[in-house]
Amino acid sequence: ADRRALIEALPKAELHLHIEGSLEPELLFELAQRNQVEIPFDSVEAVRAAYDFSNLQDFLDIYYQGMSVLLHEQDFYDLTMAYLKRVHQDGVVHVEIFFDPQGHTERGVAFDTVIKGITRALDDGEEQLGITHRLIMCFLRHLDEEAAFETLEQAKPWLNRIHGVGLDSSEVGHPPSKFEKVFAKARAMGLFPTAHAGEEGPPEYVHEALDLLQVRRIDHGNRALEDAALTQRIADEGLTLTVCPLSNLKLCVIDRIEDSPVRKMLDAGLRATINSDDPAYFGGYVNDNFQAIADALDLDREEILTLARNGFEGALIDADVRQRHL
Ligand code: ADE
Ligand code: ZN
Repeated sequence: ADRRALIEALPKAELHLHIEGSLEPELLFELAQRNQVEIPFDSVEAVRAAYDFSNLQDFLDIYYQGMSVLLHEQDFYDLTMAYLKRVHQDGVVHVEIFFDPQGHTERGVAFDTVIKGITRALDDGEEQLGITHRLIMCFLRHLDEEAAFETLEQAKPWLNRIHGVGLDSSEVGHPPSKFEKVFAKARAMGLFPTAHAGEEGPPEYVHEALDLLQVRRIDHGNRALEDAALTQRIADEGLTLTVCPLSNLKLCVIDRIEDSPVRKMLDAGLRATINSDDPAYFGGYVNDNFQAIADALDLDREEILTLARNGFEGALIDADVRQRHL
């Protein structure tokens, strides 16, 4: 009870959140009706019942299907605003949002439609709720590097709104090396590089993300712990890991929350952060993730404070803004 009050009261930053993964079944249904899109479910309960995954790909299949109701700028606005209002209740004051433009452009929705809706909501969220933001554009790794280059080209008029590039979707079989050139170009354009690595993929993929993509943050990073030298390197370089406990559980990356890598990461001096990944699909927003991990690992007050502080230390914000949050 004490823990819950502490977690709720803490100002928090969320650094690993796919905005398309915040599409709650209720809004999915509303948008399906508004846009006359057929979905293979006849009730909100049926949608929720389908959210039972045994691995990352199981989830991704449903995640891409869910996105199909997002067609117009207002849909992206509504999606983003719903997320901001929800995390405002959790005490989140800074968000770094991933979006998957290729999940939309592949369906014929224009890049500009997507980003206009998202950024308009982010601006309103800052003004109305005081939540600051960064936007990180992800490349879908199951697609080829050429498609990623096209997406980077489409982002050019929006570089004042996009701070970083990420790499997501099906990890195994799509190593970071596949995207070495497009990440080099993105970095040259001033974009901050991050990548999902070591969620299902081996430690070698984390090595590649560091060496070939030159990422400055690692999304998930669970399996990096299998390699002691790699773990030491991540600690030495002060890299942030964006861990997602309830996601790990739902995608069977771990069998029990107790098996979350967070305890080992903290003990190894790594800058671990707590995030929700795709909260509409994994059953919890940031505070639920903090609560689950704090209970399972029996975290004390200092450890909870460290995890929350790590979110601001790893955030893509200026030193003076960071200082105000710490
Ligand atoms: N896309 C959305 N969530 C993801 C995750 N956890 N891993 C890889 N790709 C994703
Ligand atoms: Zn993710």
